[in-house]
Amino acid sequence: MCGIFGIVADRESDIGDILVEAGKRLAYRGYDSVGSAVVGADGAIDLRKDVGKIDAVSEALGMRRMRGLRGIAQLRWATFGAPSRANAQPHLDCDGDLVGAHNGNVVNHVMLRRRFVEAGHTVRGDNDGESCVHAVEAHLDAGADMVEAIRRAYADLDGDYAFVITGRGENVLYAIKKGSGLVAGIGDGFTCVSSDLPSLLPLTRDIVRLQDGEIVVLRPDGVEVRRVDTGAVVAREVEAYAGAMDAAEKGGYAHFMLKEIHEQPKVAAELLHLLRDSADVHRVVDIMRSADRLYFVGCGTSYHACLLGAYYWNQIAGRLAIPMLPGQFIEQASASLDPRAAVLFVSQSGETKDVLSALNVARDKAVRLLGMCNVIGSTLMHVTEAYLPLACGYEISVPATKTFMNQALLFHYLARAVAGKDVAALDAVPDLLERAIAETEAPAEAVARRLAGWDSLYYLGYGLTEAIALEGALKLKEITYAHCEGMFSSEFKHGPLSAVFDGFPVVFFTAPGDEAMMTNHVHEVTCRGGHAIAVAEDHAEFRQNVGAYLAVPRSDRMLFPLLATVPAQLVAYHMSLARGLDPDFPRNLSKTLTVD
Ligand code: AGP
Repeated sequence: MCGIFGIVADRESDIGDILVEAGKRLAYRGYDSVGSAVVGADGAIDLRKDVGKIDAVSEALGMRRMRGLRGIAQLRWATFGAPSRANAQPHLDCDGDLVGAHNGNVVNHVMLRRRFVEAGHTVRGDNDGESCVHAVEAHLDAGADMVEAIRRAYADLDGDYAFVITGRGENVLYAIKKGSGLVAGIGDGFTCVSSDLPSLLPLTRDIVRLQDGEIVVLRPDGVEVRRVDTGAVVAREVEAYAGAMDAAEKGGYAHFMLKEIHEQPKVAAELLHLLRDSADVHRVVDIMRSADRLYFVGCGTSYHACLLGAYYWNQIAGRLAIPMLPGQFIEQASASLDPRAAVLFVSQSGETKDVLSALNVARDKAVRLLGMCNVIGSTLMHVTEAYLPLACGYEISVPATKTFMNQALLFHYLARAVAGKDVAALDAVPDLLERAIAETEAPAEAVARRLAGWDSLYYLGYGLTEAIALEGALKLKEITYAHCEGMFSSEFKHGPLSAVFDGFPVVFFTAPGDEAMMTNHVHEVTCRGGHAIAVAEDHAEFRQNVGAYLAVPRSDRMLFPLLATVPAQLVAYHMSLARGLDPDFPRNLSKTLTVD
């Protein structure tokens, strides 16, 4: 969801090429329009932007050929203002002396825009990024210098965002961070800044992490960090980033999603390896164990991991954990929080606004804050007391796959650790996942072809498999645009059963041991003409009751959800293809949702 990148160099070059490449590395976040602005040695600002995909827009507008000393690239995912050229970022101020772009949400933008229009500003679009530029301009016009104008603009602009701006004058770029990711990099003869770390790594490994409420002043020979509230310079170490940088390439697979599904055995093995030597696991486990109330909070796929985590917590560790969406947590739990509670925030990106809002509420209540997330350097990682990485590398495809797998595995690991059970039992997971992929890929494709014509279906699970039914249904909705509802199987007869007619598809995620009980639920559907599909371990008798069967390898019952996730992902992937869609970049969606 929106990505910004800025660079300032000591000499003029084809900076447009660098901006387009950086933009491509941010594209996985999701976007609908693209823009680049370059400032030349003569101070002229060249701004090119439009609606569309980065390859097409950059080609049509010749963005790679833009030359200059410094530049800003932005990929926009529409919230304020429809996708249009005027609303695409970066934006100019009234006279074209300033150019800037933001990532995130300025929530008082509508009021600010009206104020700027009434004050006679030339406001060209409806986008909140434009308000950021006019806010700085207004304070410059009132006599402030650039840093002072940005500090005052920061006070005007409510919301969570990061913002980068430059002007015709000095060869300097300025950026501020307020609740949205921002990291700076230092190279040979240039410095740069971006909404996320991986997009900087091909340019430099020397990075400067920024915190909320900071301005970074970027010059070709270095960066200076200042507090917004006091203006004081902050001493900040330059970090030599040593982490791996997975190539954002498909590696022979047709889509990132398929590649990432196939990477699951490998990333599961890496996570287990990492956990063995991790002191953080002990810290997290100790805090969870000593909490008198425990919440698991996440959105979308991460919320489904929380649901499964709560099941593991109850059944393996014999403890209660309450899985909640961030909004539910704020509305239904926050007033009764006290410092004896702990909250584990779960997020692939570590930047999801809903999650960070809940985190801020929990922080105000002084509860113990824990994090589980994939993106190193993310906001979630910085603000939690103890943090566990998912160790999945870059997940490019918008539908989360391997990160869900490692969230589920990590929850399982934590529950075993708290219960004092042997975590080595999980060492079988990578091989089992390898087999699940090999054994379900072709049958899942056949099921997907059969489902492709249906615009509505149900995924049912019971207890251990409820979270997988919900996650499978989310995956299907996300990339096939069909309606698919995941639910607790025993609830189906309390209403949705009326939807069943001849051929209507219902998928039953059936854990080992639940076959007899699930047979009842299957028959309620098949006796009304419905088409039942089972995801289960091989079970000759159960198989007789359904029209199609996706068999996963035999394992410990508690591992079944991990294995059943694989065919759910593959059915969604192949159904998306059968419908002629791009599973990696579904319409209207974004990888990282940094807005309310
Ligand atoms: C998953 O396939 C979706 N893209 C989405 O539901 C996602 O899980 C949700 O937006 C939460 O993202 P996060 O894990 O980065 O916080």
